[in-house]
This record gives sequence, structure tokens and C-alpha cells, in this order.
Amino acid sequence: MKTVLKWLGILLVVLVVIGLLAGAGLFFTTNSDINKTYDVAVAPITLPTDAASIEEGARIATIRGCNGCHTPDFGGGTFLNDPMLGVIETANITPGEGSAVSGYTVEDWDRAVRRGINPEGKSLMIMPSYEFAGLSDEQFGQLIAYMQTVPAVDREHPDPKVGLLGRVLLATGQLPLLPAALVDQTAKAPASVAPTASVEYGAYLSTACIGCHKPDFSGGPSPDAAPGDPPAANLTPAGPLSKWTMEEFKTVLRTGVSPEGRTLDPEVMPWMMTQHFTDTEIEALWLYLQSIPPVVPKS
Ligand code: HEC
Ligand code: HEC
Repeated sequence: MKTVLKWLGILLVVLVVIGLLAGAGLFFTTNSDINKTYDVAVAPITLPTDAASIEEGARIATIRGCNGCHTPDFGGGTFLNDPMLGVIETANITPGEGSAVSGYTVEDWDRAVRRGINPEGKSLMIMPSYEFAGLSDEQFGQLIAYMQTVPAVDREHPDPKVGLLGRVLLATGQLPLLPAALVDQTAKAPASVAPTASVEYGAYLSTACIGCHKPDFSGGPSPDAAPGDPPAANLTPAGPLSKWTMEEFKTVLRTGVSPEGRTLDPEVMPWMMTQHFTDTEIEALWLYLQSIPPVVPKS
């Protein structure tokens, strides 16, 4: 009996030591990913100053979801508030107190938005720069010209914290936490893109959907979903869109009402954002989504 207890005791100690070593290893590797620095030079871009370009920049900020995450006044707010996953707020990207962009040059904007890198050279957290990396110089210029006109909002945010589960998901590649590591830092965005009803322009725009509908558009639950939120829909030809017409697709993106007669919650599927796509853009998205391979998500 005594020896059994003794061996059980030893086993327990061994398990605890293994657990501690694994935990330390996890912290060590994820910290080195989090603190990795990137030295990326970006080409200078001249911002437009005319009213039409600035107005178009406001529309780009909407269809790209900047004000969705950074809150409508761009002062930032809670993105994730889960001690296990992480506590991450979106930055204040206005000139007010608590601003993350005060003193930003156009190159700093470029590194943050299209590369996912902050002025200290580290990766931002959660900010989906892999969706914006391909933004043309022209549209990026319009966007930043507009961002420089938004009114100041005074709002401070704590530094982001990553929880234990967040670190496990980061280490196993299941949480797109560090955008700088996910952007191809050697790729160069196009100078401009032709806004035509084409598969190519649809592909260009569709990066605004991948954060929720997944890079292969097969949908599924998103990391910041509230309990009870529906999963993002499957937008591939294996999903409900195969039964729709383009007009029905347009109605969903404009009004949130699906051909099946459901009204989608704008807090969940942001049709307040997608309603600002032009007819041509919706057509291009439709053509692109028809051209991609059908994917049935693993459940
Ligand atoms: C999915 C949510 C999300 C979307 C969409 C998003 N952001 Fe962010 N953004 C974040 C988060 C979270 C941070 C804070 C990152 C950090 O503190 O490491 C951030 C940080 C930033 C920063 C960096 C500030 C700094 O610390 O240097 C800038 C600039 C920025 N965002 C601009 C934009 C613009 C412009 C858009 C639209 C093209 C946009 N963001 C879209 C979540 C988002
Ligand atoms: C913030 C996350 C998010 C973003 C960004 C997003 N969606 Fe969605 N979308 C959802 C969720 C979640 C649902 C499912 C809503 C439901 O079932 O009530 C959905 C549903 C849909 C539907 C309806 C499917 C159906 O069966 O009725 C369409 C169409 C759609 N999204 C298209 C798009 C397109 C196109 C984009 C990009 C331009 C996009 N979404 C961007 C989260 C998102």
C-alpha cells in the first residue's frame, strides 16, 4: 500500500513538472512570436486632397469594416473580453486623447493597415491586415486621406493581453492573432484596380468577408462570436447561394433579408457595411463567389 502511494506521489510530481514545462514552453514560443520585430520598408504614397476622394475613403472605411471594429466614431472599443482567450480592444485611430495614431506618417498607416506592423516594428494583434494587404495604392490613399479628417475622440485603451487558450490557439495556428506573420511582406499591392463587374474585382473585394466567412468562404463560428450567435454562412457553391439569383444576393447585402425570408441581425452579419457596396461591386462579388470551389465545412 505504502509503495503504491509512493509511486502515485512520484507520478503526480512528474505530471506536474511536465505540465509546468509545457506551460513555460508555450509562453516562451508565443512570446517570441508576439515580440518578433519586422523591418519592412514601404514606398511613399501621396494622399489625394479632393472632396470626392475623401468621400470615397469614407465608403472604403465602411465596406472594409474599419468602423465596424474600431466603433463608428473610430475611438475603438472591446473586441475580445475573455480571460482565457484574451482581452483585446481595438485602437483609437482618431487624433484624440488615447490615440494610437498620433504622429503617424502615411508610411506608418501603410505598415499598420496593409502590413499589420506597429511603429515599434511589432505585429499588431487581431487587426486583420491580411484582408487589407491587397488594397490598391489608390484606395489605400483615399482611405487614409479620409482617416486624417475624422474628428478627435478621447478614449484610452489598455494594452492587449493574450490568455492561455489564446496562446494555445496561436501556437497551433488556429487564431489569426498576429497579422504581420500572416501577410506576405514581400508582396506589393497594385497601384489601382478597375472597378468592373469581374471575377477579379470580386476576389479583390471578397477579402472583406474572410474574417467571418473563412478564407475558403465555407463559413463557421467566429472567435469573437457571442454565445448563441449563428455561424457565418457557407458562401461557396455548396451553400445556400447556389439556389439564389444575383438580385436575391443583392437584397441580402442591402437589406439583410434573405430569399428564405429571414432578417439577418446586423450585429452578426454586417449588412450595414455591405449595403454600401455599389451595384457593380455586388455583381463582382457574386461572380467571384460563383467561381470558387464548393466547400462543405467539417463539423
Ligand atoms: C476585426 C477587427 C478590425 C478591423 C476590421 C480593423 N481593425 Fe484596426 N485594429 C484592430 C485591433 C484589435 C487593433 C489593436 C491592435 C493592437 O493593439 O495590437 C487595431 C489596430 C489598428 C491600428 C494600429 C494602431 C497602433 O497601435 O499603432 C490602425 C492604424 C488600425 N487598426 C486601422 C484600421 C483601419 C484603417 C481599418 C480598416 C481598413 C481597420 N483598422 C480595420 C481591429 C480591427
Ligand atoms: C463580422 C462577420 C461577417 C462579415 C465581415 C461578413 N459576414 Fe456574411 N454573415 C455572417 C454571419 C454570422 C452570417 C449568418 C447570419 C445568420 O445566419 O443569421 C452571415 C450571413 C451571410 C449571408 C446570408 C446567408 C444566408 O443563408 O442567408 C450572406 C449572403 C453573406 N453573409 C455574405 C457576406 C459577404 C459577401 C461578405 C463580405 C462582403 C460578408 N458576408 C461579410 C458574418 C459576417
